[in-house]
Amino acid sequence: MKLSWHFSSFLSLSLTASVCVLPVWVVAQSSVAPRALTPLSDSAVVKRANSLLNQMTSDEKIGQMSQIFIFGSGQIAEERIRAGQLGSVLFMTDPALINRLQHAAVDGSRLHIPLLFGLDVIHGFRTIFPVPIGMAASWDPSMVAKAQSVAAEEARAAGVHWTFGPMLDITRDPRWGRIVEGAGEDPYLGSAMAVAQVRGFQGPYLGAPNHIVADAKHFAGYGAAEGGRDYDAADISDDQLWNVYFPPFKSAVDAGVGTVMSAYMDLNGIPATGNRWLLRDVLRDQWHFKGFVVSDAMAVDHLTNQGFAKDPQDAALRAINAGVNMEMGIGKTDYGTTLPESLKAGRITVRQLDDAVRPIIETKIRLGLFESPYVDEALANHVLNDPDHRAEAMHSAERSSVLLRNEGGLLPLQASRYKSIAVLGPLADSDNDTTGSWVFANDPGETVTVLQALERQAGSETHIEYAPGVQIARTFPSPFDGITKVKKQAAWSESQAAEEFAKAVQIAQHSDIAIMILGEAQNMSGESASRSSLDLPGKQEQLLEAVIATGKPVVLVLLNGRPLDISWASEHVPAILEAWYPGSQGGNAIVNLLYGKAVPGGKLPFSWPRDVGQVPIFYAHNTTHAPQTQSKRYWEEESTPLYPFGFGLSYATFSFSNLRLSKPELKVNESLDVSVDVENTSDVPGDQVVQLYLHQRFGTNSRPVRELKGFRRVPLSPHERKTVQFSLGKEDRAYWSAATKSWVNDVSQFDVWVGGDSTATLHETFATIP
Ligand code: NOJ
Repeated sequence: MKLSWHFSSFLSLSLTASVCVLPVWVVAQSSVAPRALTPLSDSAVVKRANSLLNQMTSDEKIGQMSQIFIFGSGQIAEERIRAGQLGSVLFMTDPALINRLQHAAVDGSRLHIPLLFGLDVIHGFRTIFPVPIGMAASWDPSMVAKAQSVAAEEARAAGVHWTFGPMLDITRDPRWGRIVEGAGEDPYLGSAMAVAQVRGFQGPYLGAPNHIVADAKHFAGYGAAEGGRDYDAADISDDQLWNVYFPPFKSAVDAGVGTVMSAYMDLNGIPATGNRWLLRDVLRDQWHFKGFVVSDAMAVDHLTNQGFAKDPQDAALRAINAGVNMEMGIGKTDYGTTLPESLKAGRITVRQLDDAVRPIIETKIRLGLFESPYVDEALANHVLNDPDHRAEAMHSAERSSVLLRNEGGLLPLQASRYKSIAVLGPLADSDNDTTGSWVFANDPGETVTVLQALERQAGSETHIEYAPGVQIARTFPSPFDGITKVKKQAAWSESQAAEEFAKAVQIAQHSDIAIMILGEAQNMSGESASRSSLDLPGKQEQLLEAVIATGKPVVLVLLNGRPLDISWASEHVPAILEAWYPGSQGGNAIVNLLYGKAVPGGKLPFSWPRDVGQVPIFYAHNTTHAPQTQSKRYWEEESTPLYPFGFGLSYATFSFSNLRLSKPELKVNESLDVSVDVENTSDVPGDQVVQLYLHQRFGTNSRPVRELKGFRRVPLSPHERKTVQFSLGKEDRAYWSAATKSWVNDVSQFDVWVGGDSTATLHETFATIP
């Protein structure tokens, strides 16, 4: 199915250049002016950018290619901004400070070129949505687009123009902490989420009002870090690059993403930030990317540490030659400090500088920054406090949660049955761990934890008692601890820890039910948050076992960004709800799900391993030798996952039938229609995610046992039946072959399965002919 969404189709909507080509210094005088309601035409943008380029000195061009972090008031950068030495800054969130620096650029610099303000708006700005892995688990691209458009609206209102997201790195090794920032293991789901997020952030076209520029990161292969260790090298075969790691980026480019971030690590021995093949041959020449590339933070400078560049001057040259338009630096940039000299020495040309800076200027023009560089601080306040945004965040958290187990129909809870509730676990009342990482502009006091939501929603006749039971902490601190709003907790002494543990068990003993909120603290998954184990950190597993031993019913709610080793829980805990880091309305959403005011319908965006020894594990592996022993590759445990990709329960039950293909045989360039009936076989409403998997039996290459090629999240009333249609195009059967070094569409036989997860059994076949 075609996921791409063409920016050019929106451009063609534009009637004529809606903004006249006034000299930049004239339009720059206006302040909070309305922005263009239609996209600017390419020719108008190029003309205006060229006219500005003609007036710029080389130093000013290099300034536009330089971006630095600013924490705090930014006073120290003001002089450099006035001198035209910076084109962009990142990490500012306060509209008043943003306006102040923007004034320095617009009023103070020679050509009045506005700054581009960037920030990691990953899953919300003031209102926090579920982390991206959670949003992917919704299998609901339109919800994800909506969530990111709310994030964009809030960020833009505060003066932020550009987000460093979506993260499109496919992750098949959950030891890598940044799995939380992406869409999981699958290129098809990853592409759908890429398009949804680009559309959400940017709106219908780059420069649409109330939207921001998106950034497809980290190009490419960062999720394949050796051993799951963040920043380590990635060695990826061509087959895997083209068929697995590239597709979400290609989809984002087709969807019109405005910028791309180059990754940190070495890809097959060449740092991604100095990789001309990646950034020019693939991204620009083959995919026709027209925006600009920003390096990851310090990634240009680090080309020297990586044993690639000789010195900072060489690093800057290697990066600009590879295709990095803007350098993200801390304090200084190698571009700023060395490119002027390289230019004098003839090591780069003015033409190269122009080509590098033009798309940056074009982006500022498209965003309307020359007409409208400032934000209205009162309006920002209003937008950031919009109650509709909170409602959207709750809805997203409900749709992202995945029900992993529900023995004996424990969930939804019957309020009348459980009059006393033990709320246990270190994450039950932690606002930071409810929102997750990459959260900078939120109001922590606004976050609703599970404990708070239960206390607010339970009637006065319900008695709630809370105990954290255990404390959890990283062995090595996170480099981000200093810039997040995490409250430091004093560590318990040994005797205190024993008392707290006992207290939690005791509360469970005298309550009707225990709701345990366990998982990982927010700084345990994310950047610089890789792990060598997938165990529940600290003594959480012991606490869980002790509470189960009381004989009371237990509901386990997981807050985390990666699959954890819950093998024991999967056999002993009757109900398990995966809630991820659900965002600022997370507690409310979880309580709604527990009590059946909302029905879980999310599905796993990765294969959940039984233990860390199984990683990397993913459903779309190749058959290879001895397929009959595929699930018994280890002698001491199954080689299948604990929960398969695409898995998730509901309070409703479903059946699939009537799988029909429009023809048994088709030409290699033809499409096929597939339809299936899905029925809610229960008395409660619920959503089923109908998933279509394809397998090619033979051909130029051997192909994965099955691959996702279509999905639809379908709401169904009790006993309702719906027919779901898919169209399988030629592109769904195409793959990149390392044998021919090209895309192929084989004459072959194919299997199709449709069902509720990647182990779907409803099956049909078809063949392609020349
Ligand atoms: C480094 C991270 O790798 C990247 O994802 C992020 O956007 C930048 N820092 C800026 O915060």
